[in-house]
Amino acid sequence: MLRFENVTKNYWEGSVERQVLRGASLELATGSFTALLGRSGTGKSTLLNLAAGLDRVDSGQVFCDEIELTALSERDFTLFRRRQLGFIFQFFHLFPTLTVAENLGLVLELSGRSGDIDEMLRRVGLWDRRQSYPDKLSGGEQQRVAVARALVHQPRLVLADEPTGNLDQENGQTVLDLLRNRDASVTLLVATHSQEVASAADQVVRIVDGQLVVQ
Ligand SMILES: Nc1ncnc2c1ncn2[C@@H]1O[C@H](COP(=O)(O)OP(=O)(O)O)[C@@H](O)[C@H]1O
Ligand SMILES: [Mg+2]
Repeated sequence: MLRFENVTKNYWEGSVERQVLRGASLELATGSFTALLGRSGTGKSTLLNLAAGLDRVDSGQVFCDEIELTALSERDFTLFRRRQLGFIFQFFHLFPTLTVAENLGLVLELSGRSGDIDEMLRRVGLWDRRQSYPDKLSGGEQQRVAVARALVHQPRLVLADEPTGNLDQENGQTVLDLLRNRDASVTLLVATHSQEVASAADQVVRIVDGQLVVQ
């Protein structure tokens, strides 16, 4: 469903070029759950950002089913991102001036798709907090809202960058359970340091020397 083919990505640090990805290839089956492991600085966030179009490859290709993402214009990538993608961050990144329900509503509206905000908030156990602002919620609650927001428009692909990295064990487990209980058609790619997350995945991939190694 999501396919990386021979992707390279370099960054310049001053006058020094750092090769982060050096011919990274990987395939994610539709509806599968892949955990992406690797030490800090190995390129996990970079890989997710390339799939989300938040950054661009230097060479190689990324496909989502029949769509070559790496060939999309900025405008078309934005449309793809709004319609087909959910993104979850380590530090929640909810819209601070919007209520919980409005956070989901904005994503739904931008997607142009249908979805049920109340049903989604019930699923993550936060329907009674729908009128609250994010800063009134605990970290665990904010991340549950972020999961609801990533799923509300029924995207094809969900990318999560260390979604449990800032949560305690119990809240991390709750977020993991919510991700596992997504609809069967939703493909999930999670960058993580967590052994629990890796154990729950269908496929575990490691970034080693800029390449993707399936375990
Ligand atoms: N926008 C950027 N500009 C320069 N260097 C970057 C940028 N993004 C990431 N890097 C560098 O790329 C490497 C991989 O970063 P990252 O993908 O964030 O790793 P991880 O998520 O695995 O910790 C790091 O050395 C980081 O400093
Ligand atoms: Mg990272």
